[in-house]
Order: sequence, then structure tokens, then C-alpha cells
Amino acid sequence: MKNKLLDGKTLAKQIRAEISQKCKDLKRQAGIIPGLAVVIVGDDPASHSYVRSKEKACFEVGFYSEVHKLEKSITQQELLQLIKQLNSNPKINGILVQLPLPDHIDENMINENIDPKKDIDGFHPINLGNLFLNRPNFVPCTPKGILRLLKHYEISIEGKNVVVIGRSNIVGKPTAALFLHENATVTLCHSKTEDLEMYTKQADILIVAVGRPNFITKDMIKEGAIIIDAGTTKVNNKLTGDVDFDDVYDKVEKITPVPGGVGPMTIAMLLENTLEAVLKK
Ligand code: GUN
Repeated sequence: MKNKLLDGKTLAKQIRAEISQKCKDLKRQAGIIPGLAVVIVGDDPASHSYVRSKEKACFEVGFYSEVHKLEKSITQQELLQLIKQLNSNPKINGILVQLPLPDHIDENMINENIDPKKDIDGFHPINLGNLFLNRPNFVPCTPKGILRLLKHYEISIEGKNVVVIGRSNIVGKPTAALFLHENATVTLCHSKTEDLEMYTKQADILIVAVGRPNFITKDMIKEGAIIIDAGTTKVNNKLTGDVDFDDVYDKVEKITPVPGGVGPMTIAMLLENTLEAVLKK
């Protein structure tokens, strides 16, 4: 049977091995160790699990990393103070504030106060603006990882109908911009889209990031579509994507599994962006 998997796990492993080598070279040639600071506020188990994966990945490639675990009750001012310190800390090349943040903290305000040169998430308005102007500096990790995975499998994008579901600042909006610059015809759908199926059935490449387990089913997609599933929700302790994998499998050309598709690519791109931050300094 034809292997239809877009295997992010294996590609991410290769990328991490390359980054590990570059990290060794940097250390040997220039005495530089790339440093990432991760900030997490509150006790959401899923966020803590993602942060642990990021920390482990940093360790494995030889980066310096520090994780700042903050109480949910922290004030915005206190968080801004920490970011200010990290901005001026020479050991830190990249700063990641894990989202979502508690309601009393303004995400935009936090992103705006990260030094754009250390904004390895690419969420600072300057970096997002430059992405939309097609002169990218730091590209957000999930969109970048999705594009890298498609390019690795030599899937053509130019002229294709790319339908993105989900309009988050983290995934949906930057993904739409990135694929537009690859000359795709991009449609950005969201929770208020009327007749969603009309769009999804037209998609040569369907990218789903809504956080609704098994939301996309066979009847909603085109025969031979490429399906990218950026959803990760725990259902009965099992990571579940936004696409009903078993239901759609026969109908697709290629599909990302969950886990093992987009998730590992996001982390690999985080490492890559941190390395870029060192080189751009
Ligand atoms: N929460 C979910 N995905 C991400 C991400 O890529 N970066 C940050 N900072 N928070 C997230």
C-alpha cells in the first residue's frame, strides 16, 4: 500500500542533527552557545508538556536553555520586567513566551516588548509585518515547519488552492501569508465561515488549525488532497488532530499524522530560528 504519510518526525530529526552539528561548529570556532529562554505562565498541562519538549530539544542539540515558570497570578508588569531582563541578557538569543497567557495579561503587549532580534516565534508586530510584506525575518515556527515539510516532499504549491482553517496569529494568519508568497491561491476560513465545505472541497492543500478533534471528515475533502493537520487536543489522554485520519486516509494523496507530523516540525523550526538569531546578532 502506498505510504501517504508526511513524516514530520523523521524530517525534524534530520534537521535537529544538522542544527546540532552547526551548534558544535559555532562553539568550536567562535565559543558561542545559542541560548533560548522559555517563559510559561500558569499550570496548563498541555502548555507545560510543549515547553518540556522544547527544553529537551534544546538540550539535545547543545543549546543553552532556561525555563521561567511563573505563577498564574503574576502581574503583566512583572512579566514585562522579566522580558526586559531577557532582552538584555547576552546569554539569551531567543525568547519564547508560551501562549496562551492568562486573561489579565495582554498578549500583544508582551509580544511587542520582546526584542525583535530575539523574537524567534516571529510574533512581534515588526516581524509579522515583514512577513506580510514578503521580506521575512523570523517566520513563526508552525507555518515555517508546514512549508518545510511540503517542500521536503516536493509538493508543488504554486497556483494551487490552499485552504487554511483557523485565523490565529500563531498559525492561521502567518500560514496564509507564507503560502500566498509561494504563489498559492489562499483562502482563510474560520469559525464564522458560511458553508465551510464549499471551500474545503476545493482545497488541493488543506491546512487545519482549529483545535477541534476529528473536525474534518472524508465528505469535506477533495479526492487526492494534501492534508496538513496542525491540531493537537488530548482526547482520553491521546493526542488527537483536527482531521479524522482514519476516515479521510483512503481519499488523500498525502497527510500529516498526529502525533508525528506538524508538531515535531514546529520544534525543529524553533531551534532553527534560535540559531538564526545567533547568526543575525
Ligand atoms: N502556543 C502554541 N504554539 C505556540 C508557539 O508556536 N509559540 C508560543 N510562544 N506559544 C505557542
